[in-house]
Amino acid sequence: MLSLVGVGVRTVSFLRIQVYSVGFYADLNNPKLKLEPTMTPDEKIREIVNTCACEIRIVPTRNTSYSHLRDAFIRAITARLRDGRNNGDTTEEEAALAASPIRKLKTLFPNTTLTKHSPLDIFLYPPTPGNARALTFRDLGSIESDWVAREFVLHYFQGDGLSPPLKKMVVESIESLQK
Ligand SMILES: *[C@@H]1O[C@H](CO)[C@@H](O)[C@H](O)[C@H]1NC(C)=O
Ligand SMILES: *[C@@H]1O[C@H](CO)[C@@H](O)[C@H](O)[C@H]1NC(C)=O
Repeated sequence: MLSLVGVGVRTVSFLRIQVYSVGFYADLNNPKLKLEPTMTPDEKIREIVNTCACEIRIVPTRNTSYSHLRDAFIRAITARLRDGRNNGDTTEEEAALAASPIRKLKTLFPNTTLTKHSPLDIFLYPPTPGNARALTFRDLGSIESDWVAREFVLHYFQGDGLSPPLKKMVVESIESLQK
């Protein structure tokens, strides 16, 4: 059972244009989830993403194209891969295994408009031993890759967050959990 953890608007900074709202949902009742008081907010977010079923819901505030979103996704995941290799968070093996699912991710999106106010739901399955983790773009398709699935969701929270209001609300929700 997923619950809403936070929601915020993504703004393209140089134009100050609102492009979409983004919601983050997670199964916080998962008994495997262990949030310790000593963890930083970023560590708690990572623990949730590592352990639980999660969903990112993107709702465009204006008509956009799937190819536009696809390019932004690929840019973000490629930058995260490069940063992970540079700072040692991502191993050479993880990077090698990520190449093929990233190529598949590029092919999932149709050459059409994503209409204003129609949601794009991206579901991260909980990990299951022996299987690569699945990330499903509803009605479009899935990729299976522990690294890509996890890092795709985590990239919404890097630094101040892709949408700072989203990150702020997620951090506040997590801090108020009694776990
Ligand atoms: C996408 O659609 C546009 C207009 O419908 C067309 O001009 C373009 O060639 C298409 N691109 C691809 C990659 O199919
Ligand atoms: C948004 O896209 C829909 C479907 O393609 C179209 O009917 C509508 O006129 C578009 N709206 C704007 C503001 O371009």
